[in-house]
Amino acid sequence: MELETRVVHGGDQPADVHGAVSVPIYATATFAHPGVGQTTGYDYSRVENPTRHHLERLLADLEGGVDAVACATGMAAIACVGDLFAPGDHILHSDDLYGGSIRYFRTVLGKRSVTFDGVDTDDVVALEAAIRDTTRAVFIETPTNPMMHVTDIAAAVAVAKRHGLLVIVDNTFLSPYFQNPLRLGADIVVHSGTKYLGGHNDSLAGYVVTASSDLAARIRTIFGSVGYALGPFDAWLQIRGIKTLALRMEASQRNALAIASWLRGHPKVAAVHYVGLPDHPDHAVSAQQARGFGSMLSFELVDEATALRVLDRVQLIAYAESLGGVESLITYPFTQTHADVPEAERRRRGITERLLRLSVGIEAADDLIADLDRALA
Ligand SMILES: Cc1ncc(COP(=O)(O)O)c(C=O)c1O
Repeated sequence: MELETRVVHGGDQPADVHGAVSVPIYATATFAHPGVGQTTGYDYSRVENPTRHHLERLLADLEGGVDAVACATGMAAIACVGDLFAPGDHILHSDDLYGGSIRYFRTVLGKRSVTFDGVDTDDVVALEAAIRDTTRAVFIETPTNPMMHVTDIAAAVAVAKRHGLLVIVDNTFLSPYFQNPLRLGADIVVHSGTKYLGGHNDSLAGYVVTASSDLAARIRTIFGSVGYALGPFDAWLQIRGIKTLALRMEASQRNALAIASWLRGHPKVAAVHYVGLPDHPDHAVSAQQARGFGSMLSFELVDEATALRVLDRVQLIAYAESLGGVESLITYPFTQTHADVPEAERRRRGITERLLRLSVGIEAADDLIADLDRALA
């Protein structure tokens, strides 16, 4: 079945005794045993819950994995993966990474004596050179946040596999609708379901999707033991959101291309970073490994004052963190999403006071452009 159908019907939807078309919300902490030593398949909701189970099967289906766990947030999903590592292990990660992931590496994994280094994961020579004896994994975010660099996933996987490393890909920006890293050889995909999957800026969620039964079993043990689980109400919101994933991804991508094209012609805009623009340096590699370019873009203004004015003046576009919802959101990575990245590193990566990041929603493109035009006047 095609993805447009699977987002609506995928994931082993259980037949409901009443014929309900929407998966019921099983708001229960525990499940009665039919008899001594017997189980319905569900014993306790921290470990398994029917609403969450359906969502997990749906994610595994959409990403082409053997299993998925649905966590309370994207960071909980990343932490669940982080629990695979032991003191002394070393992780390489894309150097242009979501600031929260960098904060997690520094403040949580670092305290457990897991070491890590940022590397340009689209440069396979640099990636291979950075591998040490203790390196266990490569953590890739592509396209990156907020500079929109694309890693050639299959090329990075080839390097990692020569050294026996796990490849973990944060697939939040493109969603399984546009990109399936497991099909390109990655071992684990993580998502912030808060973004495109949920799609409505109304629920937090995260996913870990695994490519092998061995990894699936290790992740399930961590997930059930620690309690990263997504609650049944939010699981239901995620299921509902995913039903329109295909429509939303297409609509917001169309808008993003229109806005990126308009922005680059504006005299107060110094640069536009959108992978969907044919002259973006990573356009070709993205076209080869993904079915679309998504709807995240960043742009540089001519000066800081103009950037701040845009944030102040937008009316339809909300000045808010997060991304991937039906509402367009604009953020200031320099002091918001990437505030925890040391300043010198931020500047080296182009994250300056002049840079804004735009998550394009599904409103009419002309209305979004009119809002930006007013804000830039
Ligand atoms: C690429 C990426 N990964 C992970 C996360 C963390 O997700 P959450 O906010 O759901 O914990 C975010 C949040 O912005 C993100 O942008």
